[in-house]
Amino acid sequence: MLNIALPKGRLGDKVYERLASIGYDCSEIYADNRKLVFESEENNVRYLLVKPSDVAIYVARGAADIGIVGKDILDEGNFDLYELLDLRLGVCNMCVAAKNDYVEDPNRPIRVATKFPNIAKRYYSSFNREIDIIKLNGSIEIAPLLGLSDVIVDIVETGTTLKENNLRVYEKFLPISARLIANKSSYRFKGDVINDITSKLREQLIKEGKI
Ligand code: PRP
Repeated sequence: MLNIALPKGRLGDKVYERLASIGYDCSEIYADNRKLVFESEENNVRYLLVKPSDVAIYVARGAADIGIVGKDILDEGNFDLYELLDLRLGVCNMCVAAKNDYVEDPNRPIRVATKFPNIAKRYYSSFNREIDIIKLNGSIEIAPLLGLSDVIVDIVETGTTLKENNLRVYEKFLPISARLIANKSSYRFKGDVINDITSKLREQLIKEGKI
């Protein structure tokens, strides 16, 4: 049986649809319950619903054979796994954002609130700008509003969250989308089925004109 780690939440809904489109239906996932593991005997797969930021850990450590995860999570961590396909889903950008009237003070480190400290550090060190990282776990947009930080480094998809909190994008520096990933030893031992899923997903993308 193939274990597939799927992200719960906003990206999850798009991912389930995409899997259903290649015959890997997991509609039971939509049932209004708190179940986190779903089996499909028909396809001989088990779906594990995990936090989006944990998908790569499950796959890298072999608790799941494959998974679908945002490129942001892959870039923030350092995971030993294979990235098989860009699914062109959950397309968004990693951005620097701040209050509409923000003016940078070049004489001191920029205080950066983020869920992605490694991505933020890499970005600012690419032009040798000193920063002070404030690691938060969510609702990052509040930080500059309350003066906890000067800017945020965060994902922007529709831009609604920024707009509704009187913030705006200053730099858009990293395109993000969902990726199909595989555990390295699973890929060796279950390569046939993993390659089959990968090519079906790729064919679907071609059919939709996305690649
Ligand atoms: C993400 C991100 C932004 C928001 C951007 O948060 O951190 O807050 O989505 O989306 P938008 O541009 O479409 O408004 P998420 O929904 O994952 O919640 P969180 O703040 O709890 O991390």
